[in-house]
Amino acid sequence: MSKKVIIVGGHGNVSLRLAKLLGSKHSVTSIIRDPAQEQDIKDASATPLVLSLENDPPSEFSQAFKGQDVVYFSAGAGGKGGEERTKKVDYEGAVKTFDAIEGVEGPKPRLILVSAIDIRDPEKIPAHYTEEDKAISERVRKAIPFYMQWKYEADKNLVKRTAFKWTILRPGGLTNEPGKGTADIGRTHITKTISRDDVAKALALLVDREDAAGLAIDFVGGDTPIEEGLDAFVKKGETDFLG
Ligand SMILES: NC(=O)c1ccc[n+]([C@@H]2O[C@H](COP(=O)([O-])OP(=O)(O)OC[C@H]3O[C@@H](n4cnc5c(N)ncnc54)[C@H](OP(=O)(O)O)[C@@H]3O)[C@@H](O)[C@H]2O)c1
Repeated sequence: MSKKVIIVGGHGNVSLRLAKLLGSKHSVTSIIRDPAQEQDIKDASATPLVLSLENDPPSEFSQAFKGQDVVYFSAGAGGKGGEERTKKVDYEGAVKTFDAIEGVEGPKPRLILVSAIDIRDPEKIPAHYTEEDKAISERVRKAIPFYMQWKYEADKNLVKRTAFKWTILRPGGLTNEPGKGTADIGRTHITKTISRDDVAKALALLVDREDAAGLAIDFVGGDTPIEEGLDAFVKKGETDFLG
């Protein structure tokens, strides 16, 4: 069935791919903060809406979300502007989005949030991690500590919410390689990158997976067909966000 979908971070590299995938079947609105990006959004078969996570109040986002079936959050500071901006966009912008969904009168849209692999309490090392996973995790935490911290704070905030349905996708390092249509999904290692095409494909499939509510999904490079792997993950029903 055709759905109404809105993407926060609409001009992002993943979001543009997602809009193209969803556009043939669903009605897609993409939130951007720069009107100069409007044509790119239209070219991706979506409708642009100009709003800034940093400058506009939650009430404006609630208004934009009213009547939508699904909100995607795939925004991020992308490492620009130091810790302050990472906190503002990746954490405060995410929380603003959660509050805005709660602020929608009547039926509330579902949320599908793009987080990242290995976002967790640094003290709680997942039992399935190998020595290689642990070494990579330590290296990444040293390289981008604020990103890891503020994504974690956003995810911690979201998993407590019960007023709307949510799902978190946790991709590994992103590449611009062509998608393979395959991935490793659920309780993964953190060694393998994943193409943005494949992340967009998983996000597009999740539009119809209301039964993925309450789940956070590790998603890295691998050999399982994405639809099959997601289906098995959702049926198993074990979240990858371990606190
Ligand atoms: N890079 C990786 O290896 C990696 C790995 C795992 C997960 N992730 C996550 O995956 C997600 C998508 O990645 P991506 O490569 O598609 O990111 P991206 O290309 O950097 O897109 C992020 C989008 O967020 C938007 N944004 C920034 N500040 C905003 C604001 N104040 N208001 C509204 N929108 C704002 C940006 O808009 P502008 O175009 O105006 O700047 C941009 O379009 C991000 O959340 C990222 O953290 C990334």
